[in-house]
Amino acid sequence: MWPDRRIQDLFGIELPIIQAPMAGSVGSEMVIAVSEAGGLGSLPCAMLTPEQIRTELGIIRQRTSRPINLNFFCHRPPQEDPVRDTAWRQRLESYFIELGVDPQAPALGGLRTPFDSERCDLVIEFTPEVISFHFGLPEQNLLDRIRATGAKIISSATSVDEARWLEDRGCDAIIAQGYEAGGHRGMFLSENITTQAGTMALVPQVVDAVKVPVIAAGGIGDTRGIVAAFALGASAVQMGTAYLFCPEAKVSSIHRDALRRAKDNNTVLTNVFTGRPARGIVNRLIREVGPMSDLAPEFPLAAGVIAPIRAIAEATGSGDFSALWSGQAAAVGRELPAGELTRQLGAEALVKLSRLAPVGSSQTA
Ligand SMILES: Cc1cc2nc3c(=O)[nH]c(=O)nc-3n(C[C@H](O)[C@H](O)[C@H](O)COP(=O)(O)O)c2cc1C
Repeated sequence: MWPDRRIQDLFGIELPIIQAPMAGSVGSEMVIAVSEAGGLGSLPCAMLTPEQIRTELGIIRQRTSRPINLNFFCHRPPQEDPVRDTAWRQRLESYFIELGVDPQAPALGGLRTPFDSERCDLVIEFTPEVISFHFGLPEQNLLDRIRATGAKIISSATSVDEARWLEDRGCDAIIAQGYEAGGHRGMFLSENITTQAGTMALVPQVVDAVKVPVIAAGGIGDTRGIVAAFALGASAVQMGTAYLFCPEAKVSSIHRDALRRAKDNNTVLTNVFTGRPARGIVNRLIREVGPMSDLAPEFPLAAGVIAPIRAIAEATGSGDFSALWSGQAAAVGRELPAGELTRQLGAEALVKLSRLAPVGSSQTA
């Protein structure tokens, strides 16, 4: 028996395992596999057009009736800043020349769009059971419209202050995202990456600070991490990097190879790929321009500027200019289909948790 079933009961899922939404790396196949296995499959929508979201949701709703999560970013749309853009292009100029690309090449797609009224209409049409946000929450009237559908609303907190802020605005659960986490930090009340807490420190403090259930995220790579998260008071886990190893993950062979070689000490927080701090595997651009650069344009504009050289480099098998997002626990990942991974993690965690329960406790059954 799971020591805490609050998230399972809230979302209507069998296992307290949430496959993290990972923009650009997760599509309908993974969501279906995880939800069918009893976890919560999450479709990241930040890099999808409304039409693409509609298509993915159509496929998902056809192939599973289990609960799913739709995930959106809610960052402030960036202000164009020609001075910063010029400075950034100058910093990158030698790479453009090296790869034979015009340094003034227009920014390419791959941008992230914040949650808006059009995306809210899709939520209302498809009524996913859970909606999760990154970088805070959208404006109140959009939240009210989502809430009216009955969907549970959750978001990431990287500090106790952010967790309280989210609870005060009605979140049904809080994702406590520790420093170890792969991809973008969900931070929205602070920009100071040096004071961000690790999962081990953050989760119990968030659990103490809020009444709603807490989902632990960041560096949870296998069953041991799940058990630890429950010991810290979490009611579920959200795992990202672990799912990047699945065949359903939409990661390039360059990214997959880098994940296979990943170690405990070769990821870093960097803003050079998008303009916001995110954890990825150290590569040439991070080493030579980052990891943090004051010149990087506001999120997500930096991503568009770099895109032309990233594409050329990738075509020659180089990940020098690619964002190789990864958390700190990639090395414990297993290469399994997403459904099998979810079932294995759930079954093994349950066995481990029951072994840890004190003799005579009802949890030893
Ligand atoms: C490749 C990648 C992309 C991510 N994209 C998103 C996203 O679109 N939305 C989001 O809420 N979180 C995103 N995250 C963060 C995850 O939700 C989660 O916090 C993180 O993966 C947990 O740490 P772990 O990777 O060590 O398991 C991403 C993480 C990774 C690794």
